[in-house]
Amino acid sequence: MKPKFEKYIPFTPQPIRGRTWPDRVITKAPTWCSVDLRDGNQALVDPMNLAEKLEYFHTLVDIGVKEIEIGFPSASETEYEICRELIEGGHIPDDVTIQVLVQAREHLIKKTFEAIQGAKNVILHFYNSTSTLQRKVVFHMDTDGITKIATDAADLIYEMSQPMIESGMNLRFEYSPESFMGTEMDYAVEICQAVLDHLHATPENKVILNLPTTVENCMPNQFADMLEYFCRKIPGRDSAIISLHPHNDRGCGVATTEMGLLAGADRVEATLFGNGERTGNVDMVTLAMNMYTQGVDPKLDFSQINKIKEMFERCTKMPVGDRQPYAGKLVFTAFSGSHQDAINKGVQYMKSSGTEYWEIPYLPIDPADVGREYEPIIRINSQSGKGGAAYIMEHDFGFDLPKSMHPEFGHIVQVETDKVGKEIAPERINELFHQAYIDVKEPYQLLKHAFQETVDEEGHSHVAFAGTLRHTDTVFEVSGEGNGPIDAFFNAIQGEKISRFTFLDYASHAITDGSDSQGVAYILLQDQRTGKQYWGVGLSHNINLAPLRAILAAINRAKKA
Ligand code: KIV
Ligand code: ZN
Repeated sequence: MKPKFEKYIPFTPQPIRGRTWPDRVITKAPTWCSVDLRDGNQALVDPMNLAEKLEYFHTLVDIGVKEIEIGFPSASETEYEICRELIEGGHIPDDVTIQVLVQAREHLIKKTFEAIQGAKNVILHFYNSTSTLQRKVVFHMDTDGITKIATDAADLIYEMSQPMIESGMNLRFEYSPESFMGTEMDYAVEICQAVLDHLHATPENKVILNLPTTVENCMPNQFADMLEYFCRKIPGRDSAIISLHPHNDRGCGVATTEMGLLAGADRVEATLFGNGERTGNVDMVTLAMNMYTQGVDPKLDFSQINKIKEMFERCTKMPVGDRQPYAGKLVFTAFSGSHQDAINKGVQYMKSSGTEYWEIPYLPIDPADVGREYEPIIRINSQSGKGGAAYIMEHDFGFDLPKSMHPEFGHIVQVETDKVGKEIAPERINELFHQAYIDVKEPYQLLKHAFQETVDEEGHSHVAFAGTLRHTDTVFEVSGEGNGPIDAFFNAIQGEKISRFTFLDYASHAITDGSDSQGVAYILLQDQRTGKQYWGVGLSHNINLAPLRAILAAINRAKKA
């Protein structure tokens, strides 16, 4: 054997002229079939028990999946019993079709027919392997032998199904040339057409031809070429529903499916979060939500993704990764400063422009559409920037910090994250904000005060301020007049040691916390002696008092600096 990589045989692409799939786009949802309870289940360390399968089944129904492969009833007593319970227990809604898998072998087919007695809508899914490798190393058969396995099974299935169909069962057929990706396309066409013929497929009674990427061993574009070639060549295309069943060995299951749909497929077999043999089956959530983000209705409801994820983890005992598209814990979270700034700007843009479209950078989807609106979009660690801390203050605590305050507060938070070396919680950010800008009560404090306001006939207001201030241990009185409370206070402190500050900027708004509403004022002062600028923040139920507290907080910060 050749050493290392040289021992692998490169994939031979299917030649095709004038391919058309690259110019198409996906404009509608395929027919979805869940294979969670079969392919997904058979890949679990501990396969699901009856209760778990039932819970899973009902979740799939709630999501809106109309075709559900429930198992392999001829494979074991447990699988058989689960199939019977679903049918006899009345769990299957009238608009849902159950699908059962069986190998193309006589005794297993017979057992499968027993298992489906009494069901309303059934897809009987049979398969045999067709790839060059399986023919060579497993079956030791030529293509005629492999085709005979499929057509013998098709004959038996057709014959056994007639009484059931006559007695009212909506029974349809699905055939999988298992390991299709490793099969020569001309032979795949030949065996699939033979099966269509033996099952008497017509445009009115179509048969599902499921073309599995049993093992994903080529690139998605190569698969799309194969599929377009297959769809062009198969004579009974009108009598077939072309179905995909991608696995994910190269990590390209989603791309393979999407390109397969462009190349002519009508149906997709998939599992929630991509559970399945080895690297899994293709993930139905990602496929559906990818369509959704392109403005295409996927016809599946993932608006409660956390609940679905919890059910999945409980039943399969497998975790959904933190980075799993659309569902992972961290997929709507930005830690990076530049991402946070852009998200912040996107949120502001959406508010101010009133756009009807989702236009937020770094968030391909509105988290609310998968029920994730209450989770933090922005989390703060040492990678975060100025906008992130301001976003937390606004979204978690209602403080709408003036833009020019963001860099300074961002720096305060950054020093803390560098110090602790890990993520810091919103509560800690709020604490840092209060410590830095609000709870700075030394050396100056306003002990008591009174305003008197008069408004003249022309509507001009005149305010007189009188108050008592404390500077460390000294208490003193000040008074002044102005055209508003801030002006009056500033005039009152003229001549005191704190009169060296000039007023640069002011912003205020209300913060509502339940039924309690407070005013918050942000004041920027400049120290004339040093030229340095200081923000102070004041909180009060009294809207005249909040700015005075902010002024003193700014002065106190300057004194401490
Ligand atoms: O992956 C596969 O080929 C299968 C078939 C049985 C459809 O699961
Ligand atoms: Zn499979």
